[in-house]
Amino acid sequence: MSSKGSIKKIRVNLKHAPYTIYIGKDIFKKIPSYLNKLKLGNFGIVITSPKIYSLYRKAIQSNFGSKNFKIIKVADGEIAKSQNWLFKVIDGIIRSDDYKCRPFIVCLGGGTIGDLGGFVAAIYKRGIPYIQVPTTLLAQIDSSIGGKTAIDLPAAKNILGAFYQPKAVFIDPAFLSTLPLAQFKEGLAEVIKYGVIKDAVFFRFLKANHRKIFMSDSSCILKILSTCTKIKAKIVEEDERETKSLRTILNFGHTFAHALESSLKYRKISHGQAVSLGMIYAGKLSLLRRKCSKKALVELIDTLKLFSLPISITFDLAKTYKSLIHDKKFISGKIRMVLLRKIGKVEVSEDIRPHDLKRTFKLLKPSLH
Ligand SMILES: NC(=O)c1ccc[n+]([C@@H]2O[C@H](COP(=O)([O-])OP(=O)(O)OC[C@H]3O[C@@H](n4cnc5c(N)ncnc54)[C@H](O)[C@@H]3O)[C@@H](O)[C@H]2O)c1
Ligand SMILES: [Zn+2]
Repeated sequence: MSSKGSIKKIRVNLKHAPYTIYIGKDIFKKIPSYLNKLKLGNFGIVITSPKIYSLYRKAIQSNFGSKNFKIIKVADGEIAKSQNWLFKVIDGIIRSDDYKCRPFIVCLGGGTIGDLGGFVAAIYKRGIPYIQVPTTLLAQIDSSIGGKTAIDLPAAKNILGAFYQPKAVFIDPAFLSTLPLAQFKEGLAEVIKYGVIKDAVFFRFLKANHRKIFMSDSSCILKILSTCTKIKAKIVEEDERETKSLRTILNFGHTFAHALESSLKYRKISHGQAVSLGMIYAGKLSLLRRKCSKKALVELIDTLKLFSLPISITFDLAKTYKSLIHDKKFISGKIRMVLLRKIGKVEVSEDIRPHDLKRTFKLLKPSLH
């Protein structure tokens, strides 16, 4: 990582598609000059949402108001990752595309816009360049990095997608000033996850600074952004397409989280809340398998509590178990899960049996604590 002035640069060293993540307050204003250097094309399609556009209209117009750009506003939230919006965006691009045009995409928004815009970039004319300009904490530390792009179909979330890397990622913490607290906490669950899977020192930094973090202390936020993006960049570098089970560790807490979200039909509980509970589930399973100490599990639960993330829930055991089993690939009666060894270290286990999963469910009832 290098740092020039107040801009931090993190390189994602992928053999065929290396790129840089730029982090810095007000970097958004500097994007036009970076675009001049990056030479991605002569026509920028900016994909954003009415909410982000209304909050940042002046800055967006100042960057992308010229005839060399077209701004396309898609619906706010997960609905943007639909077949309907995919084709609306593609229609919008086709209408402005002529033989002289070399289009590229600017994804300006949360993870939903990043996933949709990245997927459009991956499939339009067999691939056009794109950049990520994430505006939620979750998108800044997670979804904008790594090239996983996708939309949802009624059958399943993220079922239609591609690995397709951006040409650059611009992370401006200034966007977080308008982010609602609930949305900020969505990102925090994943921030804590990074500490748990890879960096005990960072985990303890979060614990010690939880008050400052909630007050959006700028040096804490910058530390969070640079640490998490570095961890994600490194994992993606080593296992771009999740073929070596390294990228799998990012799924810590997600097996149970996805089962819970799906059994509750993606209502009642947010992804971040489900990840918080999922990390506790994975921790309890790890303790059951004697992979981690009780102390590590208690430290994890106490930290989630500090960030007012949920640590208990009443849920339908049978339904959640059914969706967990339904989601997972069993190989010789066993499934793969990410287990906790200690704070800062996890391992991928290939031999989790339904029996272990059921016993852990029982440990969670009636509350997770
Ligand atoms: N590609 C990946 O690797 C990856 C990883 C994790 C999650 N995801 C995907 O990310 C999506 C979730 O992303 P998200 O949590 O960013 O949700 P989101 O994109 O729906 O944004 C959440 C809400 O915050 C609003 N918002 C965005 N920026 C704002 C700002 N600066 N100020 C005020 N409001 C703002 C949005 O308008 C929206 O209402 C899911 O679809 C998930 O599947 C992808
Ligand atoms: Zn997640």
